[in-house]
Amino acid sequence: METKPLTFDSEKLDGISAKTLAVHHYKLYAGYVAKADEVTKKLKELAASGATAGNATYSELRALKDAETFAVNGVYLHEWYFDVLGGDGATDKAPELSRAFAEKWGSIENGVKYFSECGMASRGWSVLAWDTKAGELKHYNGDAHNQGGVWGCLPIIVLDVYEHAYFMDYGSDKKAYIEAFWKNFNWAKAEELYLKARDVKL
Ligand SMILES: [Fe+2]
Repeated sequence: METKPLTFDSEKLDGISAKTLAVHHYKLYAGYVAKADEVTKKLKELAASGATAGNATYSELRALKDAETFAVNGVYLHEWYFDVLGGDGATDKAPELSRAFAEKWGSIENGVKYFSECGMASRGWSVLAWDTKAGELKHYNGDAHNQGGVWGCLPIIVLDVYEHAYFMDYGSDKKAYIEAFWKNFNWAKAEELYLKARDVKL
């Protein structure tokens, strides 16, 4: 896998420090990329050796398959999270998504408020996604990279609420961090993702 660079200047965010982003992106996210590669390599070696006997209590195959979803989701979720940062928080850059928020939650402000509360209720990830089965925007929380996600959903807004995302900047004040997330939110990018996703029906 490839470690993708940040698409914005980490010194320029308002309320999320360059120090936090340096650890979050260049250490933690890059670490998931490296581990995803390592697990993929080990799985190939295991398959080549023929020693792939699976056991659901413990087997090397089970341990690697579990690590695989943790590492790969760790990579993808962080990429979606960093993708929607670096903006100016101006909602007028997302007219269609604003309309969808208004239809679902009454207004964009109410939708953001609800999303923020979902973030407060999560121990890891809070995700607004296009649910390709339901054919509508749905909000899902996950307490770990490989827990809580719903298959068939295309993430549009991904918020990392692990403590590593805010503890250096805000201590335990998660609410202040979530407010900073919206201040730096790139609504144009979210709009782009929404327009691509909303036609997908599976
Ligand atoms: Fe993170």
